[in-house]
Amino acid sequence: MRIVLAGFGVVGRSLLEIVSEQSEELVRRYGMSLRFVAIVDKGGAAVSENGLNPLKALESKRLKGTVAGYPGCGKPGIDTLSILDDVEADVFIDALPTNLRDGEPSYTYLKKAITMRLHTITVNKGPLALALPALKELAEYRGVVLRFSGSVGGGMPVIEFARQCAMGDRVVRVEGILNGTTNYILTRMEEGLGFQEALREAQEKGYAERDPSLDIKGYDTAAKLVILANEVLGIRATLEDVEIRGIEGLDGREIEDAKRRGETIRLIGKVDGGLRVEPTRIKVDDPLAVRYAMNAVAFQTENSGRHIITGRGAGGRETATAILRDLIQVKKFMAGGGVT
Ligand code: HSE
Repeated sequence: MRIVLAGFGVVGRSLLEIVSEQSEELVRRYGMSLRFVAIVDKGGAAVSENGLNPLKALESKRLKGTVAGYPGCGKPGIDTLSILDDVEADVFIDALPTNLRDGEPSYTYLKKAITMRLHTITVNKGPLALALPALKELAEYRGVVLRFSGSVGGGMPVIEFARQCAMGDRVVRVEGILNGTTNYILTRMEEGLGFQEALREAQEKGYAERDPSLDIKGYDTAAKLVILANEVLGIRATLEDVEIRGIEGLDGREIEDAKRRGETIRLIGKVDGGLRVEPTRIKVDDPLAVRYAMNAVAFQTENSGRHIITGRGAGGRETATAILRDLIQVKKFMAGGGVT
């Protein structure tokens, strides 16, 4: 499978690490031989028809700050659009940073890749929160797979789980903790740390967005909520439809007060009639009261009750695993087996 990867930050690099560690297993278990024919970052690209060596790409990034330093294959200054024009591939993976203002440049790349009939995987919430219905329609029209498992819940298969909950039933309400960074900050503040220090830790651990105000002000949660609303509840919502309050106004006293009452404050996103994100007090023994960078999402169904999934909601290797999950679906589709 020939892959073009755009974005070589925490997630993109983790994907290459995992692929280099598991290449034999991926062939054995899924018949999936992954060939990265181009990787693009801010400094340019590395291109090889025969497939780049993941370790060499990682080394180039580490030593030279860009994959374009890859010996013999580097193309400094070249961008993703030119790569899509010039390089033959089967799959486009978008692991670029989230931009919730207009979804760019990912939105343009995704449209181009799908239009060129590349199967497309994105972990980027921006274009999905702004234009998921349009992208899905385009993918359907072009007959390609569009997957975005890593856009919600990091490594947890939240979207897949939701689809299972909805099978033969109907999901009527969704609520949960969808942002690892704020959950980490709130947990560390409960342990006595200051806000800034806790944020710094979350950044060091690779949980936060490049612009961490997206996490703190609740926009990241809102984007994921929009994706779930579209995907699980069939609501054609966009970011504009979400009422958003983040954790930036919370102080240590409120957190202490909640603690004294056997409660905890969590940034909860909810689709229940409308779409809302706000800091919410819940009991410490509530199944949604997960700690550190964990996420927890509850799907209320019409007939089979409330189903909850919890797991690690952020992090490079976690999100890269979700990309692999999507690649396996692409592989199934390419083999004529449809997707689940
Ligand atoms: N910044 C996001 C979070 C990353 O903290 O949850 C995963 O989407």
